[in-house]
Amino acid sequence: MLFVNFDPFPILETERLLLHAMSESHVEDMFKLRSNPQAMQYIGKPLLASRNEARDLIDAYSRNLRDKIGITWGIALKDIRVNESEGALIGTIGFHKMDLYNYRAEIGYMIHPDHWFKGIMSEALKRIVDYGFKEMYFHSIEAKISPENDASRKILLKHGFEKEAYFKESFHENGRFLDTEIYSLLNKPGERHKTA
Ligand SMILES: CC(C)(COP(=O)(O)OP(=O)(O)OC[C@H]1O[C@@H](n2cnc3c(N)ncnc32)[C@H](O)[C@@H]1OP(=O)(O)O)[C@@H](O)C(=O)NCCC(=O)NCCS
Repeated sequence: MLFVNFDPFPILETERLLLHAMSESHVEDMFKLRSNPQAMQYIGKPLLASRNEARDLIDAYSRNLRDKIGITWGIALKDIRVNESEGALIGTIGFHKMDLYNYRAEIGYMIHPDHWFKGIMSEALKRIVDYGFKEMYFHSIEAKISPENDASRKILLKHGFEKEAYFKESFHENGRFLDTEIYSLLNKPGERHKTA
């Protein structure tokens, strides 16, 4: 079984981004992100209705980390910091469900629409996939998307993910059963990021 250690939390950097743990100082930004209908369109979860729900979500990420269920980073622009190790939150990315027995994880990501189309998620995804393979020793990374989510499909294909499955009416949301596409990327050093 894969061993993971998140103490201390792995703060990661890219050219423009700081990927960091989330805390009380991010409640307002988390609320702004998760109450935005555009950002939430394909997430399959209700829009947040209050700051308290944003706080609960950040707490849930901490619990998931402690219980080794998943790890979620806040995405911040390096030049807008709230303190030395944290930035203002413009999005999130993480391995939401880790399957340590099979060295596999499910990746999820979102960014506030104010920052779409600037290559930010591409930059974050590349760093997190590299971290997942090189530092966490995952063998494969999976992504589940709505077949209507063109932006998410585009970014996955750009980073070498391949479509592996199409599940009909597998996701229940608001009284409807929706289809799901499954993409995955295998840890094959030398083959990855040919297109990224
Ligand atoms: C999907 C998402 C993370 C993309 O973030 P982003 O920072 O705008 O993406 P990037 O700027 O890095 O773009 C990556 C590629 O996707 C393309 N792309 C981005 N948004 C797109 C859209 N709405 N439709 C088609 N292509 C899109 C970009 O043009 C780029 O392609 P290129 O390199 O060939 O130019 C963002 O749209 C988002 O947060 N959506 C809402 C949350 C969500 O759906 N998350 C995924 C759940 S599975």
